[in-house]
Amino acid sequence: MPTSQQGVEPDGQAPILVADGITVRFGGLMALSNVSLEIGPATIVGLVGPNGAGKSTLLAVLSGLLRANAGHVGLRGEDVTNASAQSRARRGLARTFQQPELFMGLTVRDHLVVAHRARVARHRLWRDMLDPRSLLPPSAAETERIDDLLRILKLTRVAEAPVAALPLGVLRLVEVGRALASDPHVLLLDEPLSGLDMKASENLLSVFKSIVEKGDHHLSLVIVEHDVAAVLAISDTVCVLNFGECIATGSPEEVRSDPAVRAAYLGDSEHIRRSRLDAQLADQSGQAPVGRLST
Ligand SMILES: Nc1ncnc2c1ncn2[C@@H]1O[C@H](COP(=O)(O)OP(=O)(O)O)[C@@H](O)[C@H]1O
Ligand SMILES: [Mg+2]
Repeated sequence: MPTSQQGVEPDGQAPILVADGITVRFGGLMALSNVSLEIGPATIVGLVGPNGAGKSTLLAVLSGLLRANAGHVGLRGEDVTNASAQSRARRGLARTFQQPELFMGLTVRDHLVVAHRARVARHRLWRDMLDPRSLLPPSAAETERIDDLLRILKLTRVAEAPVAALPLGVLRLVEVGRALASDPHVLLLDEPLSGLDMKASENLLSVFKSIVEKGDHHLSLVIVEHDVAAVLAISDTVCVLNFGECIATGSPEEVRSDPAVRAAYLGDSEHIRRSRLDAQLADQSGQAPVGRLST
């Protein structure tokens, strides 16, 4: 398959994406302070933290939408600190936006075909975008690739439906599909579960799991999420941000029992937040939260 992605092929274990000592100031506000993070191949990294902790800012720095005041970003073995968002995209970095940006008259399949072509032939993207009626019939190879994507995203049943008719949970999957059509090495997701009910959230999480597991060790995800339990349930590594600082990084088990994390979330006497956190930390298997504090 032709590839328009640039970059050196790292060895099997080298991190795909690295943030090293990232600091971002907005005027007098320190949004990120010396944050470092490594995303290995075929892993899910969860980024959690209270509102305003700096999660979206970190994604913006990783994707190239925002320049950090200090620190470096590495992507597939190359320093991309000063590279544009477009150039990072060409090197295999993709992201989704919280509000799906879709063409309401196009079907689910059309969206994936257009996104797939954007990668293979840039000039065609513009023709297809400017006049969707000019969508040329997909080739057999294109159809096979799109059918695979539809299957893995559990969208086969709605493939021919115009997206205007579909609920938010399905639109999020179409967004993810569009990002995956560019065959990225790492996909950044900012609050993909927001606005979804429990069933749609569970469906999205199970799709995330399967695209990483079945992605030929080729795809990693970075998920920013408010829902701590969801992140702990599917991530291999979790990073907790608090007031712009990374206060803990590790496996979900390590993070769950980390005193700094519990202190940041719990404060001293906040009963409501404490019980909320305990409820969130209660493992989906029904396991009691680690280190539950007595009152
Ligand atoms: N463009 C901006 N200009 C000024 N302050 C900003 C800007 N973007 C974010 N901030 C501030 O930086 C901090 C971190 O924001 P953000 O990364 O959006 O947090 P999170 O995504 O964890 O909720 C917040 O205090 C926010 O108000
Ligand atoms: Mg945010």
